Amino acid sequence: MKRLRSFKPWLFVYLPLLAVSGQTRPAGSEPASVSVAALAPVAGAGYAGAERCQTCHKAEFGEFSKTHHAAIKPPHADSVTGCEMCHGPGKAHADGEEASQGDDAKAAAAGKLIFSFHANPRKNAERCLVCHQSSRDQKDFTHSTHIQHGVACDSCHSMHLTEAGRNPKAERMGTAQGNFFNVPKLPAENRWLHESQLIKAQPELCYGCHGNIQAQFALPTHHRVPEGAMKCTDCHNPHGTSNRATLRQSGWETCTQCHVEKRGPYVFEHSAVKVEGCTACHTPHGSVNQMLLVRRETRFLCLQCHVDPFAANVPHGRLGFQARGDCTRCHAAIHGSNFDVNFLH
Ligand code: HEC
Ligand code: HEC
Ligand code: HEC
Ligand code: HEC
Ligand code: HEC
Ligand code: HEC
Ligand code: HEC
Ligand code: HEC
Ligand code: HEC
Ligand code: HEC
Repeated sequence: MKRLRSFKPWLFVYLPLLAVSGQTRPAGSEPASVSVAALAPVAGAGYAGAERCQTCHKAEFGEFSKTHHAAIKPPHADSVTGCEMCHGPGKAHADGEEASQGDDAKAAAAGKLIFSFHANPRKNAERCLVCHQSSRDQKDFTHSTHIQHGVACDSCHSMHLTEAGRNPKAERMGTAQGNFFNVPKLPAENRWLHESQLIKAQPELCYGCHGNIQAQFALPTHHRVPEGAMKCTDCHNPHGTSNRATLRQSGWETCTQCHVEKRGPYVFEHSAVKVEGCTACHTPHGSVNQMLLVRRETRFLCLQCHVDPFAANVPHGRLGFQARGDCTRCHAAIHGSNFDVNFLH
C-alpha cells in the first residue's frame, strides 16, 4: 500500500517533458530588442495622419495594419506614428495629390513631396535605424558588408506587401528539392507576416544576389539549406556582425551551436580545430567531397599540415602503415580525444 501511494503518475508526463526541453537545439535569432525612438515632428512640416493616407493608398494601409509597426505605441503623445514615421511629413503630398484633380503632371509633382525610399541606400536605411539601431540584431548594420555594397533594409524587407500581387521581386518559396522533401509552402502574405516581412523566403532571397553560393549548395554534399531544413541565417547575420563573413558567432562557435559534441573541451585537443577552426578541414556550404571536406582524399588533407608523417618520431612504418590508407582509419577521434594523445580513439 505504501508503495502504491508513492506512485506519482504525473511523473510520467513531467519527466518526458523535462527530457524534451533539456535537448539542445540550434539557437534561433535573438528576440527583437528594438526600442521605439521618440520621433518628434519636424518643426513647420504638416502631418496628415495614417487615416488620410488610407483614402488613396488602401492596399498599403490594409497590409501595413497587420504588421508590428502599426501597433507601435508612441513614447510621447506628439510622436509621429503610422505611415509618416518612415515616410516623413505627408500633408503637402496629400494636399498636392488632392489638388491635382487627375492631372498626371501635377500628381507626379506631388509624389515628389514625400520621402519614398528612392534615395541612396544609406539614407533609406537611416529611416529604419532611427529605431532599429537599438536592436542587438541590427546594431552593426551601418558598417555591414551589405550596406557598404548598397544593400539596404528594403532590398530584403517589405513594409507593406502590396507586392504579393504586384511586385515581381516577391514570390513563393518552392525549389525542386524543397518540393521533393515536402517542405510546406505558405501563402505569400502568411509567410511574409511570420518571416520578418521578407520580400522572399530564404534561401531564394539570398540566392537572388549570391549565385555562386547557390552553386555551392547544389554540390553533392551540402548542409540542407536548399531543402529548407536550414537557413543561411543559422550561420550568418545579414545585418552584419564584427565576425568574419558576418557569421553569427566568432570562430567555430557558429558550427558548434549545432555540432555540440565537437566543442569539447577534450583532454587532448587537435590544435587544427582550436586554432584554425572547422573551416581548416570543412567547407561550410557544399563540397564534392564526402563530409564536406576540403580535400577529396582525407590523407592529403592531413598531409597539408603534417608534412612528414614518416619522420623519425612517427612510427607509421613500424605499424605497417599503408600509403593509400586513410589516416582517420586509425586516428578516428580526429576532432579531439579524452583518451588518446594521438586521437586513436
Ligand atoms: C489624395 C490622394 C493621396 C493621399 C491622401 C496620399 N497619397 Fe500618396 N500618392 C498618391 C498618388 C496619386 C501617388 C502617385 C504619384 C505619382 O504619380 O508618382 C502617390 C504616391 C505616393 C508615394 C510614392 C511616391 C513616389 O514617388 O514613388 C508614397 C511613398 C506615398 N504616396 C505615401 C503617402 C503617405 C504616407 C500618405 C499619407 C501621409 C499619402 N501618400 C497620402 C495619392 C495620395
Ligand atoms: C516601417 C516603415 C514604413 C512605414 C511605416 C510605411 N512605409 Fe510605405 N514604404 C516603406 C518603404 C521602405 C518603401 C519602399 C520599398 C517598398 O515598397 O517596400 C515604401 C514604399 C511606399 C509606397 C510606394 C510604393 C512603390 O511602388 O514605390 C507607398 C505608396 C507607400 N509606401 C505608402 C505607405 C502608406 C500609405 C503607409 C501607411 C499605411 C506606409 N507606406 C507606411 C516603408 C514604410
Ligand atoms: C518608430 C520606430 C521604428 C521605425 C522607424 C522602424 N521600425 Fe521596424 N520595428 C520597430 C519596432 C518597435 C518593432 C517591433 C518589435 C517587436 O514588437 O517585436 C519593429 C519590427 C520590425 C521588423 C520585424 C517584424 C516582424 O514581423 O517580426 C522588421 C523586419 C522591421 N521592423 C523593419 C523595419 C524597416 C525595414 C524599417 C525602415 C523602412 C523600420 N523597421 C522602421 C520600430 C521601428
Ligand atoms: C541582406 C538582406 C537583409 C537586409 C539588407 C536587412 N535584413 Fe533584416 N532580416 C533579414 C533576414 C533574412 C531576416 C530573418 C532572420 C531569421 O529568420 O533568422 C531578417 C530579420 C529582421 C528582423 C527580425 C529579427 C529581430 O531582431 O526581431 C528585423 C527587426 C530586421 N530584420 C530589420 C532590418 C532592418 C532595420 C534593416 C536595415 C537597417 C534590415 N533588417 C536589413 C534580411 C535582411
Ligand atoms: C540585393 C542583393 C543581396 C541580397 C538579397 C543578399 N546579399 Fe549578401 N551580399 C550582397 C553583396 C553585394 C555583398 C558584397 C559582395 C560579396 O561579398 O559578394 C554581399 C555579401 C554577403 C556576405 C559576405 C560578408 C562578408 O563580410 O564577407 C554574406 C555572408 C552575405 N552577403 C550573406 C547574405 C545572406 C545570408 C543573404 C540572405 C538573407 C544575403 N546575403 C542577401 C548582396 C546581397
Ligand atoms: C553551416 C553554416 C553556414 C550556412 C548555412 C551558410 N553559410 Fe555562408 N559561410 C559560412 C562560413 C563559415 C563562411 C566563411 C568561410 C571561410 O571563411 O572560408 C561563409 C562565407 C560566406 C560568404 C562569403 C565568402 C564567399 O564564399 O563568398 C557568403 C557570401 C556566404 N557565406 C553566403 C551564404 C548564403 C547566401 C547562405 C545561404 C544560401 C549561406 N552562406 C549559408 C557558413 C555558412
Ligand atoms: C543550424 C545547425 C547547424 C550548423 C550551425 C552547422 N551544422 Fe553542420 N550539419 C547540421 C546538420 C543537421 C547536418 C546533417 C546533414 C544532413 O544530413 O543533411 C550537418 C552535417 C555536417 C557535416 C557532415 C556532412 C556529411 O556529409 O555527413 C559536417 C562536416 C558539418 N555539418 C560541418 C559543419 C561546419 C564546419 C559548420 C560551421 C561552419 C556547421 N556544420 C554548422 C547542422 C548544422
Ligand atoms: C583537422 C581537420 C578537421 C577539423 C579542423 C575539423 N574536422 Fe570535422 N571531420 C574531419 C574529418 C577527416 C572527418 C571525417 C571523419 C571520418 O572519415 O570518419 C570529419 C567529420 C566531421 C563530421 C561528420 C562525422 C561526425 O563525426 O559527426 C562533422 C559533423 C564534423 N566533422 C564537424 C566538425 C566541426 C563542427 C568542426 C569544428 C569544431 C570540425 N569538424 C573540425 C576533419 C576535421
Ligand atoms: C590545419 C592544419 C592541420 C590539419 C589539416 C591536420 N592537423 Fe593534425 N595537428 C595539427 C597541429 C598544429 C597539431 C599539434 C602539433 C603539436 O602539438 O606539436 C596536430 C596534432 C595532431 C596529432 C597529435 C600528435 C601530436 O603531435 O600532438 C595527430 C595524431 C594528428 N594531428 C593527426 C591528424 C590527422 C589524421 C589529420 C587529417 C584528418 C590532421 N591531423 C589534420 C594541425 C593539423
Ligand atoms: C594503421 C593505423 C594508422 C594510420 C593509417 C595512420 N596512423 Fe598516425 N599513428 C598511428 C599510431 C598507432 C600512432 C601512435 C604511435 C605511438 O603511440 O607512438 C600514430 C601517430 C601519429 C602522429 C603523432 C606522432 C607523434 O609525433 O607523436 C601523427 C602526427 C600521425 N600519426 C599522423 C598520421 C597521418 C597524417 C596519417 C595519414 C597520412 C596517419 N597518421 C595514418 C596509427 C596510424
